[in-house]
Amino acid sequence: MDHPVEARGLVKRYGDIIAVDHVDLTVRAGDVYGYLGPNGAGKTTSLRMLLGLIRPTEGSARLFGRDPLLEGARALDGVGGFVEAPRFYPYLSGRTNLELCAAYDGDGAAERIDEVLDVVALRDRAKDKVSGYSHGMRQRLGIAGALLRAPRLLLLDEPATGLDPAGMRDMRALIRRLADGGMTVLLSSHLLAEVEELCDRVAIVRSGRVAYEGSLADLQRTATTSFLLRTSDDERAVQVCAGRRGLAEVRREAAGIRFSAGDEATGELSIALVEARVAIYALAPERATLEDLFFRLTEGEEAGEGGASTTAARAGEGGASTTAARADDAAPEPVAEPA
Ligand SMILES: Nc1ncnc2c1ncn2[C@@H]1O[C@H](COP(=O)(O)OP(=O)(O)OP(=O)(O)O)[C@@H](O)[C@H]1O
Ligand SMILES: [Mg+2]
Repeated sequence: MDHPVEARGLVKRYGDIIAVDHVDLTVRAGDVYGYLGPNGAGKTTSLRMLLGLIRPTEGSARLFGRDPLLEGARALDGVGGFVEAPRFYPYLSGRTNLELCAAYDGDGAAERIDEVLDVVALRDRAKDKVSGYSHGMRQRLGIAGALLRAPRLLLLDEPATGLDPAGMRDMRALIRRLADGGMTVLLSSHLLAEVEELCDRVAIVRSGRVAYEGSLADLQRTATTSFLLRTSDDERAVQVCAGRRGLAEVRREAAGIRFSAGDEATGELSIALVEARVAIYALAPERATLEDLFFRLTEGEEAGEGGASTTAARAGEGGASTTAARADDAAPEPVAEPA
């Protein structure tokens, strides 16, 4: 059977900029697949190529075995979604906008309007003009529009970006429900936590290239974790840490002592601390941030600054990294979707 998404060697160039650089992607039926990368990594451009909205410079994309460039709208049978922000007629109501979409989609879409309004919890606001909708309501209306097609595959470009924490939680819950109902979902995001919560498999992209593809759990396992230690006597604790085998990057900070180590070395440290009569108040593993993962994956690479790059090396190819990811890549709060 054909996979919902199969992209091979996708490249998109804009002049000197390589927005997408030889991306291979396979999304299997039932996957909730995360396409994770910082601003400018090429997420939207990739999704546009998958949907046949723009032509790849090289490579090909197939949805359920059909190439949208060769087969046009037919290739999008069973596929719903949107890139960047969904667009609607602002002076028409949510319902009227959906009616227009349904008229275009045909195939029983009009009969699904009430149902999809319920799914995205917009039934009671459906008669209001879209111009009066909040950002979160528009995103949800976008998903409602995609659901009219009763898709087997949903492609969503940063669906939760720009939403407040409650809106993000609701959006994730909605995607989770759709996935539990058997829908295959490919969503892009720049938030690791979001992808961790929703997705089983990920592609991590940077500067147009896939730096990692596989399960997040496998990726986390390859990493030594960073720990935060708080004790009754941090000064003494630092001495205990100093020079211990298996501990690296020991440093004292306002929050406590940070170090990286595996589980075994951390266990041994806890015993050594107690033997030194240092009480442990907290010894907590810290979750890798998206930035950490990028650094780890691209460690040793000469990273391009600010978006698409022609110099980024594939993970593991060596080289020396000096360039930091942009600060907004790791922002804990969502940043507004750029226009
Ligand atoms: N139409 C275009 N013309 C020129 N350059 C483009 C065009 N579309 C995208 N790019 C460039 O391609 C790169 C990838 O852009 P893209 O929008 O795909 O990134 P993204 O991962 O979706 O970023 P964001 O998280 O900010 O949405 C950027 O450097 C961008 O400037
Ligand atoms: Mg984008």
